[in-house]
Amino acid sequence: MRIGILTGGGDCPGLNAVIRAVVRRGTDRGHELVGIRDGWKGLTEGIFSELGRREVSGILPRGGTILGTTRTNPYRVDGGVEAVLGHIEQARLDALVAVGGEDTLGVAGRLHAEHGVPVVGVPKTIDNDLSGTDYTFGFDTAVTIATEAIDRLHTTAESHNRVMVVEVMGRHTGWIAVMSGIAGGADVILIPEQPITVEDACRELAKRHESGKDFSIVVVSEGYELTYESGEQRLVAGEARATDQFGHVVLGGVGDALAREIETRTGFETRVTVLGHVQRGGSPTPRDRVLATRFGLKAADLVDERRFGRMAALHGDSVVDIALEEATRELKTVPAEWYEVARAFFG
Ligand code: F6P
Repeated sequence: MRIGILTGGGDCPGLNAVIRAVVRRGTDRGHELVGIRDGWKGLTEGIFSELGRREVSGILPRGGTILGTTRTNPYRVDGGVEAVLGHIEQARLDALVAVGGEDTLGVAGRLHAEHGVPVVGVPKTIDNDLSGTDYTFGFDTAVTIATEAIDRLHTTAESHNRVMVVEVMGRHTGWIAVMSGIAGGADVILIPEQPITVEDACRELAKRHESGKDFSIVVVSEGYELTYESGEQRLVAGEARATDQFGHVVLGGVGDALAREIETRTGFETRVTVLGHVQRGGSPTPRDRVLATRFGLKAADLVDERRFGRMAALHGDSVVDIALEEATRELKTVPAEWYEVARAFFG
């Protein structure tokens, strides 16, 4: 078989480990691999690259993706779907492996359901918000980076008696905020799923300061809407409220807005750190390398068995396969019990 592989959406550490595993298992089984450049853009425009054992040598610990990635949505490009189908035929691809999050896998699921495209999926995202899998790779690395940042901010916060607001990623969900906040000992954590109010957050900080602690760490998820006791909610979005081809608004800035609110309401000197894309860069943690590798092998096996329309997923400790549409049916949000673990240490 000729198997094409693409990586789409925001990159994350571990993508190269998946590519390596698919290539190694695929070539071991006598298949030929084809690299598709820049996610669905490569199939829409017909941009391919060679992909053999030589190309994947040494990439296991490397961040990013050797195939490149974009947020191109063929369903939003004029004639995009027809172009994708045409290029699959021209390149004589018998199967596709699509590595991505809700958007990339959503396109894969539709192409499979509507046009019978022989595709299998691999779930990735630092946000960890895909249903159908307990964890996605990239998440552990992002949490590790955020936790290290919180640890570092503690010492400078303590020296200066400051409140440090740390804005972390997580477009729709607060997984990174909750996990890094628990691990780093945050004093308040604000996430989209359990939006405590700005007033409550300030009360927790005041309580802490009254009990003799003159510094605090506040972790806020970029998707948290500033929420007030009056019931007002305000989403702070990035420049010009730009949206990508999947209709997502560019987030960023809530940390700054929250820091200003805290300083005005409590009088405590407050600084903000926006971790941004640092959370997506660099080498994957061992845990992410292993998970990505297991997902890659599973995807190659699914292709070999011609079980298309399926996706690799982690259930407990086992890598299983589920229907592609299960991955994108709903967002996996942070359950209340996880937030309660974090909340036990507020104030
Ligand atoms: O989906 C992963 C993610 O990192 C989100 O956490 C974040 O909102 C978004 O991608 C940022 O996208 P971009 O890299 O296009 O700025």
